[in-house]
Amino acid sequence: MSGLSALTLLSFQGKVAKALINSPLYKPISQRAKDTMKETAESAGIDWEGEKVRVRGLRRDWEEAVLAETKSRSTSPSLYYYPDYYNKPFHTYTLGNLEFDAAFEQRLASAAVGVRNYPQYGAGGEEYFRSTYFDAIDRVGDYESSAVNLAVDFGCGTGMSTEDLKRAFPAAEVVGVDLSPHMVVVGRELVSEEVTLRNMPMESTDFEDESVDVVSIQLVFHELTLEASRKVLKEARRILKPEGRLCVMEMDGKSPGFKKLRANPFLFSIIGSTEPHLEEYFDQVDAGFSDLIEEAGFANLTFETATSRHFCAVASGKLGGLKEYEVRDNRDFEMMGRLDQHMKTMSKSTSDPSPITTFKLTKRIPSPPSTVLKACLDGWRVNNFNLPLLPPMITNAGDDSGVGFEILRLPPGLRERITEVKCDGGDLSVVYEVVNPGWWAAFPVSFHQGRMLMTDDGQGRTDFAWEVDYIPLPFAEMYVELMTQVIVQKAFQSVVAASTPASDSDI
Ligand SMILES: C[S@@+](CC[C@H](N)C(=O)[O-])C[C@H]1O[C@@H](n2cnc3c(N)ncnc32)[C@H](O)[C@@H]1O
Repeated sequence: MSGLSALTLLSFQGKVAKALINSPLYKPISQRAKDTMKETAESAGIDWEGEKVRVRGLRRDWEEAVLAETKSRSTSPSLYYYPDYYNKPFHTYTLGNLEFDAAFEQRLASAAVGVRNYPQYGAGGEEYFRSTYFDAIDRVGDYESSAVNLAVDFGCGTGMSTEDLKRAFPAAEVVGVDLSPHMVVVGRELVSEEVTLRNMPMESTDFEDESVDVVSIQLVFHELTLEASRKVLKEARRILKPEGRLCVMEMDGKSPGFKKLRANPFLFSIIGSTEPHLEEYFDQVDAGFSDLIEEAGFANLTFETATSRHFCAVASGKLGGLKEYEVRDNRDFEMMGRLDQHMKTMSKSTSDPSPITTFKLTKRIPSPPSTVLKACLDGWRVNNFNLPLLPPMITNAGDDSGVGFEILRLPPGLRERITEVKCDGGDLSVVYEVVNPGWWAAFPVSFHQGRMLMTDDGQGRTDFAWEVDYIPLPFAEMYVELMTQVIVQKAFQSVVAASTPASDSDI
């Protein structure tokens, strides 16, 4: 494909992705994303609801605490003012970081991501993930941990990263700062007395010039615009001693995992819909991250791989005089990727020997199998299962039974084909598959097959089952699970509704 046509396709897909985000599908997808996160945490024994209730119960006067915190803020932005980029629905919370639910659930959500990414560590996945950051800082290695007197955690949330910082620098005074009063007041109930959390913007803190030994920024830049990142790095340089260290951990757009995600704007926009600035972060901040560090006045920067998808960056020194800016890049994603793959294989072989994920929905329908079959075939051939998606192109009409019927969804170019329609006594079935799965078809699986099974219960009713088998590509497990569950569920409901007599309808 020529550069121009590839670009045209990218922007077209990007627009369609945005339309999808604004479509009725978005709500069930984001709700499903939240439910999946909860289920993932619970599968590792984390009691999501119980813990949320416990945290909420730690005080009664949350609203008053937030108000008092906001009023006492000594630095700009002043009372009730938040920058535009901050007033966004991060992580599908309507008020983003300025919401109690976001703060009550912050640690739970992080734990769920840890379980998902490092299943072999179960509920300890998050702890392992966080340890990779400090291991990477250690590999850079050119600092004396005991010489650190004051360490500041920028964008501390409810203080998990602040406590990690305290563990890394036990002799230091450790302070977390966050712009969300909700995060700070909730965090104060959760952290030990050894750390302090303060409500202020990273862009303008009240630390004195050259007073801080370490500024650590974990998983925050992807929530910022380029403009905000510039200001934050400048502020870090202002408060750091000349020999102080800036340490950053973030998603690495240059890692193979995120490169694949970014190569598909359709998929990327959907994933990025819970992170309003993710696209800008990847496009601008990561691409020129070392330039931003130089622009802020640091004299040198070292990149290390933290995980196969996250970098650790350590910057220090002050530019000036005849000093030249120096960048060392020690990233080795291949090595880390092998490690992660190894861990994945381990977890598969111990807990789940099959790479295939199966999703199944069932319902008894008060109509004979032939009626349900007609509704299934009409879904393919006539009404697109009433999905709020663009009508697909029919590329093959198939034979009278429906076998060979094929559609093309444009964009993203996904082809679906009916491969079998069977009558076995009174029981009927339809088998279909995705012919061209993969990253470019925005359906990152290596295999996808669905079966619609209609079993006669002998009393004029049908036990209807819709089963889907799929093998997600690496790094896309959650997305594939979400899309499959939401879309198949909608299509399933459409078939059930179409084949249920109006008088019996209960869905
Ligand atoms: C994804 S959380 C990361 C929290 C924590 N560093 C961790 O690793 O668990 C990002 C945090 O950055 C905070 N944040 C974003 N912009 C900020 C700003 N301009 N000043 C201070 N905090 C900010 C948000 O309120 C949020 O709590």
